[in-house]
This record gives sequence, structure tokens and C-alpha cells, in this order.
Amino acid sequence: MRYEAESAVISEGAAESNHAGYSGSGFVNFDNAAGTYVEFTVNAPAAGSATLTLGYANGTAADRPLDIAVGGDQAVDNLAFPSTDTWTDWGSVTTTVTLKPGANTIRTTSAAAEGGPNLDYIDVTAADGPAGTDY
Ligand code: GCU
Repeated sequence: MRYEAESAVISEGAAESNHAGYSGSGFVNFDNAAGTYVEFTVNAPAAGSATLTLGYANGTAADRPLDIAVGGDQAVDNLAFPSTDTWTDWGSVTTTVTLKPGANTIRTTSAAAEGGPNLDYIDVTAADGPAGTDY
């Protein structure tokens, strides 16, 4: 299932809609500092491995890495969000995390001083269940 960043908990950033092509009603512009974050809550029916697909734009030439924490534990360090060329070109990055049954926080935190990319959404799909299973 898709979780829109503009509907998540935003720490030091803003929901914006000034660059076309996003999903939902906008995206999150992280403040340009390390430690700024967006936190989603995902409910899992059972423990398992989940594929996260993160939609984003990065109109600069440099990587805008994010750290991914699940339930407060660091899951992925410095996930790369390379340039998409302009702020209206949107791409996606995929990674895998482990979820526990019930509510899981998935926090995406800016890992560098430039802050994260403009974050549009995360799609969460079971990685070891039937194809296409949603969380
Ligand atoms: C520009 C752009 C923003 C972006 C920011 C950044 O200001 O309009 O959408 O978030 O650059 O560098 O992070």
C-alpha cells in the first residue's frame, strides 16, 4: 500500500506542492540539515520482510542519502537518492526491511547536511509473501 509523505509525521520539513508530477497532494521538502525526518506508521499483519519503494525527486547533482529506521532501530544506512536531474523529474529507490506484527514506525532521516530529497511516498509490499501483498 502507498503511504504519502505529506500525510506522515514531518520533523523539520514541510509538505509542498510546487513541483509537478508528485503522487497524492504533494511531497515533503526536508529542511536542509542532517537529522530532519519523515515518519510513517505501517501496520503489518504478520512478521516478515517488506520491500519499500520510496518515490522522490532530487534536482541537484549530489546524492541526498536517507537513513531508514524501523521501530526505532536503524535498518538501512545512507540509502542513496541520486539526482533525478530536476525537481519535477521523479524517481524511486527500493530497499528491504523487516517488519514486526502490528504497528511499525518507518522513519526516513536525512543523513547529510543537504537534507533528504523531496520525498513523495513509500510503497510497502510483502517481500516474502504472495506477490503484490500489501501492508
Ligand atoms: C529547492 C527546491 C525544493 C528543494 C530544495 C532543496 O529549493 O525548490 O523543492 O527541497 O531546493 O535543495 O532541498
